[in-house]
Amino acid sequence: MAQACRRAIELGLPSIAFTEHLDFTVWHEDDAATSRGLIDRHPAHQLPIDVQGYFAELEECRGRFPELRILSGVETGEPHLFAASIAEHLRHSPVDRVLGSLHSLTLDGRLVGVGRLLYDDRDVTMRRYLTEIVRMIQQSDVFEVLAHVDFPRRYWPGGSEHYVEKDYEEEYRAVFRALAGTGRALEVNTSSPLASVDQVRWFREEGGAAISFGSDAHQPTAVGQRFDLAVDIVEAAGFRPGRDQFDFWRR
Ligand SMILES: [Fe+2]
Repeated sequence: MAQACRRAIELGLPSIAFTEHLDFTVWHEDDAATSRGLIDRHPAHQLPIDVQGYFAELEECRGRFPELRILSGVETGEPHLFAASIAEHLRHSPVDRVLGSLHSLTLDGRLVGVGRLLYDDRDVTMRRYLTEIVRMIQQSDVFEVLAHVDFPRRYWPGGSEHYVEKDYEEEYRAVFRALAGTGRALEVNTSSPLASVDQVRWFREEGGAAISFGSDAHQPTAVGQRFDLAVDIVEAAGFRPGRDQFDFWRR
């Protein structure tokens, strides 16, 4: 965390959020995952968050780097399926920033990583993925930023350079309409192959008002990766810096 903070300061970033993955391999009986008949997850190597260690280190960094605004956070995976489990976690360990993301789709009663499903039928999987995101937005209000809207493009068979956003414009627009309708922010994720100006413009045209920049770093060296390019894309799509340097970008 300290290395990530140091990197953020080097780059001149005003703020950093540490959004730990909050994924469940066992879950609450009140979760929709239970009522949808899910029994398992593949892969299932996700570990519980070390809440104590996390907050201790975060506090240490806040003391050490007063020039940087340091936000606590979680990235909730499939939050519409785990509302009760997430609520319980956040009740004990509230955070500043909650992201929502989809990494998996259901297959035969299991949640399966979407990268694996792409190899069966990439086109069907991609449409299913974006349709499930609409459901996730409609059925969960726990997150304020939608993370990596087209996560599967990272794992596109044959290479992400063969992924064509335009083929899914209708599905993207449905996602963006749903997200904009709730006033939430779209993340431009710079660990994924970058979104095009067109894609960010679709969000704007569907009423989108707020953009967040996420480097999805996982390693200190990746903090703020390609933010220069991402800023150009977001600006070209018609967004501007918000009310201060800590705000989302706005239309
Ligand atoms: Fe993610």
